[in-house]
Amino acid sequence: MQDWREIYQSKLVSAEEAVSHIPNNSRVLFGHACGEPTTLVDAMVANYKQYENVEICHWVPMGKGEYCKPEMAGHFRHNALFAGGATRAAIAEGRADFSPTFFHQTPRMFRDGTLPLDVALISLSRPNEHGFCSFGVSVCATKPGAEAAKLVIAEINDQMPYTMGDSFIHVSKLDYIVETSHPLPELGGGRMTEVEEAIGRNCASLIEDGSTLQLGIGSIPDAVLKNLGDKKDLGIHSEMFSDGVVELYEKGVITGAQKSIHKGKIVVGFLMGTKRLYDFADNNPDVMMLPIDYVNDPVVIAQNSKMVSINSCLQVDFCGQVNSESMGIAQFSGIGGQLDYVRGATMCPDGKSILAMPSTAKKGTISRIVPVFEPGTTVTTTRTDVHYIVTEYGVANLRGKCVRERAKMLINIAHPKFRDELWAAYYERFGKED
Ligand code: COA
Repeated sequence: MQDWREIYQSKLVSAEEAVSHIPNNSRVLFGHACGEPTTLVDAMVANYKQYENVEICHWVPMGKGEYCKPEMAGHFRHNALFAGGATRAAIAEGRADFSPTFFHQTPRMFRDGTLPLDVALISLSRPNEHGFCSFGVSVCATKPGAEAAKLVIAEINDQMPYTMGDSFIHVSKLDYIVETSHPLPELGGGRMTEVEEAIGRNCASLIEDGSTLQLGIGSIPDAVLKNLGDKKDLGIHSEMFSDGVVELYEKGVITGAQKSIHKGKIVVGFLMGTKRLYDFADNNPDVMMLPIDYVNDPVVIAQNSKMVSINSCLQVDFCGQVNSESMGIAQFSGIGGQLDYVRGATMCPDGKSILAMPSTAKKGTISRIVPVFEPGTTVTTTRTDVHYIVTEYGVANLRGKCVRERAKMLINIAHPKFRDELWAAYYERFGKED
């Protein structure tokens, strides 16, 4: 058998050459979030005139999103599975598309021809002594995507952590290799507001010792973790997490000792945080990075005992419908794994799903608790799935409650300055009670 080092050398090319092999009229997947292969993406964008009708498909954009610029039209078109700062305007202006998809179902869609991939552009760690590179901070659907694509182009970034789990690919499976060295995209590390602190305390009041946690995207999950310092034997089974987990692991609060599956392990699909988090995950066998069709499968999530999912949202209406991804008709983010975890935690006999948000938005000028949504608003978590809603003013357990009762409970955790107008809408809809 040929030595893997020779194979590696034979596939080494420049970024320009690597991306020149992307065919016209093809679909290209980018590694997810902080696993975006920015050297390859920059080379594609710099040479955009050589391409015709190339679809660029990915979830959370953490790069510059330059392939969405108006002058790229006809060369590139973005198909967003999750919107972000760099891609929202293009989607709103009709220059890019948005495809609603459950994160855990996308690997299956790559494999069964629903969303076939011509090319995967991925970012990997350096190979180990056996010739295996790690997908590093982004295993989730990046690894299944690379396994399904006809052509795999990888940048090997010596700053990508070598993470453990089902997170490896052998150099023989790569078609072109580009060596690079750059820091990974980072997120978080900012200061917490008083409102976030209060939300964190309210969520923490629902978490018992021995719970297994899922933590969503945004600053609220870290505010929750900050309030869990006195808990015992917490575990993690999560689509993603950021820096807050590191501190609790180092303090001995996160041990996974009471987990019912993968005891002692932190199970996760991707990482999004600062270098501190990436260093923590590097070569750490306690951090088990797995593909998302397993991690986010509600049936798998439900096998965890005391499963608590904690996600953020943008708006809740009187019925308990939750919007976490749009501002009216404009796509703001995506569903990600929100409903996977709401449902997984709900199927778990002692599970809880928490959706948390500040009571107001737009610098306190509007209430996020509203009688009805404006037309076009996305319902991310349905009123039938919803369980706990948390704001800085308290906790509303909506499960099993009638719509009238839900409306009352939600008004009681709305910002006090909006409660009068919310009660007026309540009386108009449900009538005055004695
Ligand atoms: N109307 C108008 N503007 C609103 C609004 C509303 N109802 N709700 C929020 N906003 C504004 C906020 O004021 C804020 O603007 P600012 O930055 O100018 O103050 C902005 O929108 C972002 O809101 P915020 O609540 O701070 O967002 P976040 O970064 O905490 O993210 C979600 C929250 C819900 C968008 C994010 O968690 C998400 O995309 N969730 C869906 C996916 C998911 O839950 N996945 C879970 C597994 S990872």
